[in-house]
Amino acid sequence: MTETVTATAESGVRDGVAGGDDHLKGLILSGGKGSRLRPFTYTNAKQLVPIANKPVLFYAIEQLVESGITDIGVIVGDTAEQVEAAVGDGKRFGADVTFIHQDAPLGIAHAVKTAQGYLGQSPFVLYLGDNFVLGGIKSYVERFVGMGAGSQILLHKVEDPQSFGIAELVEGRVTKIVEKPSDPTSNLAVIGIYMLRPAVFDVIDRLKPSGRGELEITDALQGLIDGGQRLDAEVLDRYWIDTGKMDDILNANTMVLGTIAHRIEGEVDERSRVHEPVIVEEGARVSNSVLRGPLIVAAGTEIVDSYVGANTSIDSGCRIKGCRIEGSVVMENTVIEDIHWPIVKSMVGRNVELRGGHNVGAGYSLTLGDHSRIEMPDG
Ligand code: G1P
Repeated sequence: MTETVTATAESGVRDGVAGGDDHLKGLILSGGKGSRLRPFTYTNAKQLVPIANKPVLFYAIEQLVESGITDIGVIVGDTAEQVEAAVGDGKRFGADVTFIHQDAPLGIAHAVKTAQGYLGQSPFVLYLGDNFVLGGIKSYVERFVGMGAGSQILLHKVEDPQSFGIAELVEGRVTKIVEKPSDPTSNLAVIGIYMLRPAVFDVIDRLKPSGRGELEITDALQGLIDGGQRLDAEVLDRYWIDTGKMDDILNANTMVLGTIAHRIEGEVDERSRVHEPVIVEEGARVSNSVLRGPLIVAAGTEIVDSYVGANTSIDSGCRIKGCRIEGSVVMENTVIEDIHWPIVKSMVGRNVELRGGHNVGAGYSLTLGDHSRIEMPDG
């Protein structure tokens, strides 16, 4: 297929606004099971796990909008209902969001093919909804638009190249790309943000499923190269993480909190001490407690007689009383009361009750769902 439409520096992103026939679209993948993030993903999509109290998916939407892309397709699967409820029509992001159903999780390239009708002849930015970049992608999108033809991927140096698509480069051009190589020839991982043109659909049509039964985006990219198309790569100069595991979420949470501006809009009583930067949202109440930022406390949450330490996010509707908690993520409507050991590096889900000081005999009384994990100190 010949590309009849290309983006140019003049017509693609103009003053940060994409417009015209060749205007850029966005495609965010928000399907998948998220098995490595159980138990949270039993009840919620992995793309809705919060980073600084905001679903990781929302950062992707905001970053596309910031890059001038307002027509955004969101690929959904088994968790469609939750994703659609959370995102809505996209207006609050300044975007026009269209949900596209992928019948089965048959790979990233399959998801792209599923969106062909939506994407039409537009160049597009594909963003995997569980990838997180700190500081956005606007400059990279602008570079792609300036290319006029060809595609662009973003790379990041990693310590475990066996876990990613890995690229080989010659003078900024990708010459080879392999999915999760057992014997990697570079440490440059392909991150989950791809800037593509409709020519990719023809390549996907010819793909065969990989060993894991998926149509791989890496194979599609290799197909573009083999067909003589230009594939450029930029090594990302900022923090990126694929938020597949709990440690990654805590890490990304710490990175985002490292950028917050101090803002107290809720009530903090005179017996409390606050070490900046801290966000206490309107409707949150803090009494007789120490808040050592960076941290965020969402609206409707109450912190009483507690120490909340650095790199902690507490979402809305929670009650934290008589506790020491730091380096942790607490999701909505959870109660943590009278726990005499510090809670560190923890992720606590929605509607959890963690209560100490109860007379339940000589031991702990635990109600833990499948894949819950508790690690306790000695003694
Ligand atoms: C996918 C891609 C891989 C890429 C990674 C980035 O891997 O197949 O090439 O490096 O995303 O997050 P997956 O998450 O499907 O294993």
